[in-house]
Order: sequence, then structure tokens, then C-alpha cells
Amino acid sequence: MSNSKVVSKITTHVLQEMKLKGEKISMLTAYDYSMASLLDKTGIDVILVGDSASNVMAGYKTTLPITLDQMIYHAASVMRAVNRALVVVDLPFGTFQGNSKEALNSAIRIMKESGANAVKLEGGKEILESVNRILSAGIPVMGHLGLTPQSIHKFGTYIVRATEQDEADKLVSDAHLLEEAGCFGIVLEKIPAALASQVTDELRIPTIGIGAGRKVDGQVLVLHDMLGITQKFSPRFLRRYHNLSEEIRGSVNAYIQDVKSQNFPNEREQY
Ligand code: KIV
Repeated sequence: MSNSKVVSKITTHVLQEMKLKGEKISMLTAYDYSMASLLDKTGIDVILVGDSASNVMAGYKTTLPITLDQMIYHAASVMRAVNRALVVVDLPFGTFQGNSKEALNSAIRIMKESGANAVKLEGGKEILESVNRILSAGIPVMGHLGLTPQSIHKFGTYIVRATEQDEADKLVSDAHLLEEAGCFGIVLEKIPAALASQVTDELRIPTIGIGAGRKVDGQVLVLHDMLGITQKFSPRFLRRYHNLSEEIRGSVNAYIQDVKSQNFPNEREQY
């Protein structure tokens, strides 16, 4: 039987080895089959089916409204495209904070119904029981500390977190708790670079930064932000690699012109 899918799959163990070797980990979000297919062929290490889908795909102002069913729909679409990258899926708001049994059920649904490789949960000590229970079922868990967007109504603003000593101390302690529990990695979002560097040095598991400076084990960005599809979101940490919104506008305008002027379709484009 021919097997065109023979590829070296990125696992949580591969990420651990990358940290040991000092090889940086690349991670981007994807929420659909077509984008995930493109990403996977580039050799990206990790694809995150982030609950940022709530903003980017559904147009909500926050990540709070997206449901577990919607996350599973996005994750299953991504999984149909991916052969190589490790696929991590966010547990959405309200599906893991209540109690650890509910958290486990949510994680099991994601793993069973989408075929994803791991889940990500926002928070530290407060959600440790949920993290432990999910891990005990053999489901790999990634942590997420710093600016945790599901807590935006508590923070009241998207400014950089953990600039005060108390919050920085809690973040360091939470990072150790998550590592001791058995998480395979931690996303550090929008915190001072020096603090991210300290956490990265102290932990054996990889840290993935977004707005956390260079001295982390890897970087993550939201795909639609770095491609310049989203336009209003411009934090300092965001490097735009393309201005795709301009390109899309240009192409669609050209199409409209061609339709109006009857330049499209031409004779070769008809039957
Ligand atoms: O949902 C998401 O896209 C994320 C990243 C910003 C890390 O959690």
C-alpha cells in the first residue's frame, strides 16, 4: 500500500527536545482546512486552534462567546489538513473553570471529535485541579499565563500583565505548578521580556511567547494578524509579514471591474 502521508510528526516530545537543543519553536493559529493545509506544508511546528477564532472568524469583540461545539468544528477542519504539525486546541471560556469533571469532559470531546493532539487552558493555580484531571486521562495540556484574554472582564484592559511584583511572583509560581502537574509547554502572553526570560530559564518545558520578548523557547502569532488580514489590531509585538487585506481588496476590485465590463469570462473561460 502506498503511503503518501509518511512525515515526521511533531509531538510534545519533539518540542521538549527542541528546547534542549536550543531550537526555537514556531507556532501560528489556524481555524480552517485551507489555511491549515498551507501552514502544515510550510513546516510550522505547532498549529493552535485558538479561541481567537471568536474574534477572527466570528467577529466577536472577545474570546468569551465561542462554544465548545464551535471549537470542535474548527479543530476538526484543521485536523483534516494537518499531517506534520502538533495541533493544540483551546478549551473555550466556561468549559473548564467550573469543575474538573466538566473540564475533562470538554477535553475528551475535543480529542475524540476533532482528533487534535493537545488542549490549551488559560490560568494557573485556580485551574490546577482541571489540569491534573485532564492530564490523568492521558491528554497533553499546554498552559497559558500572563494576558489571558478569557479574563478580560477581570483585567478591564489588554495592557501588558505582570509588571507589578505580586502578579509577576504569581506568574512564576503558576508556571512551576503547571510544569510540576505535567503540562508540556506554556504560552506566555504580553508580559515583560525579562520575566518571560526568567520563567524560560527556570522551566524544563518549553515556553511560547506572544508579546513576551525573544528569550522564550518559541513564538506564536495569530495568523490573520501577521498576514495583515485583520487591520484594527496593532499591538507593539505584532510584526505584519504581509498586507493581505490590500491584496484581497485589489483582486476583488479587479474582478468587479471585469464582471461589469464583461471582460470576464472570456472565450477560453466558457464551455
Ligand atoms: O487564542 C489564541 O489565538 C491564543 C494565542 C494568542 C496564544 O491563545
